[in-house]
Amino acid sequence: MKRLSAVLLLTGILALVCACAARDPAGSSPELVLRYAENQPEDYPTTRAAHYFADLVEQRTQGRIRVRVYADGELGDEVSVLEQMSYGGIDLARASLSTLMVECPALMVLQLPYLYEDAGQMWRVLDGEIGEDFLSATRRSGVVGLSWFDAGSRSFYTCTPVSSLEDLKGLRIRVQENDLMSGMVAALGAEPVQIPYNDVYSAIMSGKVDGAENNWPSYASTGHYEGARYVYLDEHSRVPEMQLMSTVALDSVMALDEDYYTILRQCAEESARYERELWAQTEQKAEEDMLERGCVITIPTAADQTLLREKMQPFYDELTDEQKALVARIRAS
Ligand code: GCU
Repeated sequence: MKRLSAVLLLTGILALVCACAARDPAGSSPELVLRYAENQPEDYPTTRAAHYFADLVEQRTQGRIRVRVYADGELGDEVSVLEQMSYGGIDLARASLSTLMVECPALMVLQLPYLYEDAGQMWRVLDGEIGEDFLSATRRSGVVGLSWFDAGSRSFYTCTPVSSLEDLKGLRIRVQENDLMSGMVAALGAEPVQIPYNDVYSAIMSGKVDGAENNWPSYASTGHYEGARYVYLDEHSRVPEMQLMSTVALDSVMALDEDYYTILRQCAEESARYERELWAQTEQKAEEDMLERGCVITIPTAADQTLLREKMQPFYDELTDEQKALVARIRAS
């Protein structure tokens, strides 16, 4: 009888342990679970940095907060993710400034074509006072910026050979869902077509567009090169990315512990540093891979580079005085 009771007791304990493990593999139940949206695949630098962030948050809040990362656009495209964040439907995300600009127009200046002399200048700006001001400026749109991620520079790629600026004319080029990008493409004589990122592959393969523009890692990981193997390396813009939190989620985090906002910001900063390292490696490798796969790269001639900048000048002329002053500060950085 005693043996039977011991066996029953042991079985009971085992069942309880298994049930807890199924509910909470890490060992203790979090008090807050935050959903993090990412539109890139699992092995992409920004997604790997999101998991890094999630691990840091869990460690530094002693397991009270857990971050679940949903990659590959599982929670929707960037535009809809930002919309959902504005009312707290999604808690965290990493988004391109191009998309974020729709909700927070002030960010437009940071992605003007040929704004920065080089990547170093962009990082001096983003890691300094201007970058910090812009992280907070997003608050008006129901999100708060936590850190800056690298996304390199963007260039055009097309299905037919493009060896000069002239060849871009009349081509239908996919752009991100914002009017600055559309305006830039139109200024070059091409036809902009706004399509969400995760639908661009089929648009290229089905001939709905003749090309697109993006950075090396996106070009490689999406398979866009399969249909569009001509790269016109004009590096027309650097569009950095932000890690964001919805202000609704921020309130829940602060309700657990007032110090958690600072802790989450630190985790975001550390994950951003990690992302930038991964980015540098991935960018170089993607370019090499693309060359090996037969992609053809054209570097614009000096004359085309001058022409490109001239065609982008109207975007600067149309700025308000305040925006012009900001551009001057950025260029002096
Ligand atoms: C980059 C960026 C994505 C964005 C995409 C786009 O790949 O990382 O967040 O959606 O550009 O062109 O839309």
